[in-house]
Parts: sequence; C-alpha cells; structure tokens
Amino acid sequence: MVPDEVLAPPRAAPQFIDLLAETVDPRGELTAALLKACASIPPKYFYDRLGSRLFEAICELPEYPLTRTERAIVDAHVHEIAARIGPGGVLIDLGAGNCEKAERLFGWLAPTQYVAIDIAADFLRDRLNVLAERNPQHSILGIAQDFTQAIELPEEVARGSRVLFYPGSSIGNFAPEQAFSFLQRTREACGNDGHLLLGVDLVKDKRLLDLAYDDPLGVTAAFNLNVLRNVNALLGSDFDVGDWRHIAFFNEEQSRVEMHLEARRAVTVRWPGAERAFAAGGRIHTENSYKYTPERLRETLKRAGYKWVAMYTDDAAGFAVALAGA
Ligand code: TRP
Repeated sequence: MVPDEVLAPPRAAPQFIDLLAETVDPRGELTAALLKACASIPPKYFYDRLGSRLFEAICELPEYPLTRTERAIVDAHVHEIAARIGPGGVLIDLGAGNCEKAERLFGWLAPTQYVAIDIAADFLRDRLNVLAERNPQHSILGIAQDFTQAIELPEEVARGSRVLFYPGSSIGNFAPEQAFSFLQRTREACGNDGHLLLGVDLVKDKRLLDLAYDDPLGVTAAFNLNVLRNVNALLGSDFDVGDWRHIAFFNEEQSRVEMHLEARRAVTVRWPGAERAFAAGGRIHTENSYKYTPERLRETLKRAGYKWVAMYTDDAAGFAVALAGA
C-alpha cells in the first residue's frame, strides 16, 4: 500500500462554483423546444464532455479556420490590445471551453483573477485543474453557468476593472436581436472602466462556410449528432443517433449557417411524459451561426452602449477581433 500523500501531493485546486442547478430545468426547456412546430434543441446542449472534445477536434480541421485565424489576429495585435486595456484587471472568459484562448493572454494582461465561465461543468473543472498546475501564480475561479440568459457574477469574482472575453464567434449563435441584448448585458457587466474583447466570424464565400460546417471527415457531423446522446441523458429520451443525419449550409439571405438534424426515416421519439413523431426528412434545428460584416459589428457594439471600438482582421478579412471600451 502506498500512502495517499505519495500518490497525490497536496495542491490547491482552483475555486469552482456550480450555479447550473439554479437556472432552467433542462427537461422543461428541451421538451418545449422539441414539441414546437419547428423542433429545435438549444445549442448549449452540444457541450457535454464528449461534445466539448469534438468541438476541440473541429477547431483542428483545415476547413474550420476560425480558431486559428482568431489566434493569429490576437497574436498580431496583443501588444496594442494589452496597452489599451492596461494590466491588472479581472479577466472574465465567457464560454471558456478548454481555456486555451484566455491562457495566451495571461502574460500580456497580467490579470489579478481569471474567471472561467462555461456550461460544460465537468469539462471546465478538468481543464481548470490542469491550467492551475501550469499557472500556480494565478488566481483562478471557475463558474458553471448558463450566461446566455443573464451574466451573474458571484461575490467571489474579484473587484477591479473587468475584461470580458467572448471569443470564437459564439456571439453568432444568437439571433441578431438576442446578440444585441447580450452585448448590452456585457456592457453593463463592464461597469464604467471595463472592456470587451470579442471574436466574430465574417461573411465570406458560401463554399467556404458550407465546408467549415460540413467537413468531409465528418467531425462536425459527429459533433451535431452527439447532441442527441446528451439529450437522451438529460431528458430520458430514446433518440437513435443512426436515424439522423447532419445538415449544414450557409443561408445567404439570413447571413447565417444553419445546422439541422434530419430524420433518415420516419421515427417517433419518446421520453417521460411526451413523444414526438418525425416524418422521413423531418428536421430538428440545432444551431445558427450568424456571420457579420465589420460595419454591422461596429454599429451593433456602439448601439449596445460601447464608447469606442477598435477592430482587427486578418488579411483575407475572414474574421474580426473587436476591442470595445465602456
Ligand atoms: N460557435 C461555433 C460556431 O458557430 C460552434 C460550431 C462550430 C458549431 N461548428 C459547429 C455548432 C457545427 C454546430 C454545428 O462556429
């Protein structure tokens, strides 16, 4: 027998607060969404542990350049971004995921605290433990929360000027009006001396966007289909993944990529208290990813109450990183 302390030397785990239980009951929300005339599944349910890992794999795909382009833009301008923000703020990462994007900013922003918020509680906890080992000098706070309804920052969040970080074009997953009110809420959370650092994918050639969301390797298809396994776990439903196929395409009129799951044959899905029949070809809408122009992005940020906006893009103008001041 090896004593415990030899196996696991004591190390301070990062502080972690789980606020998920206080928000909506997933069963009520999922039932309502699945029973609508146009069935849907809210995209936050993509991110169980496997879904979070599949999304990491998507970011490695040559067809999905968003993550790499965003990283290159931030790297190219991080000096100026850090100078404008100033050191020593509280870095608040909305939808932190694997926390890699924010970690790259630590050396530049020297935050007094890093606050990582994500709906994927288990995944976030795993990644924060590793992050804390690599960055023992940093104060780290993890919060499991659905921040799409309200950005509520518990008292464990340090005082000081805030830097809200919302990368990865997740803003595109809101419809334009929701995106606007979300940006208003980030503006409020910034107080009177904070900043927002926002990554947004831009309108581009339809062929590129179609491929980015429907790669030939099928990783995005697996990511989209995996939502059914998570729904089965949360709702007690009996979705058979094999009954469904991944559909994704850029809808130019609406300026959005639409993701759907389409029934390969007629199926009836059952769960406690309800059921839903789908004809062959019937669809479940799983996500939209709106694409912006730099002008619309700047105008939306101003309208949401930000005083000034700096915009950085790559040479091909495929992606924009906006820095907005309160
Ligand atoms: N926020 C990402 C995006 O809109 C999420 C995403 C990437 C996604 N690929 C996907 C969502 C495929 C559903 C299906 O780009």
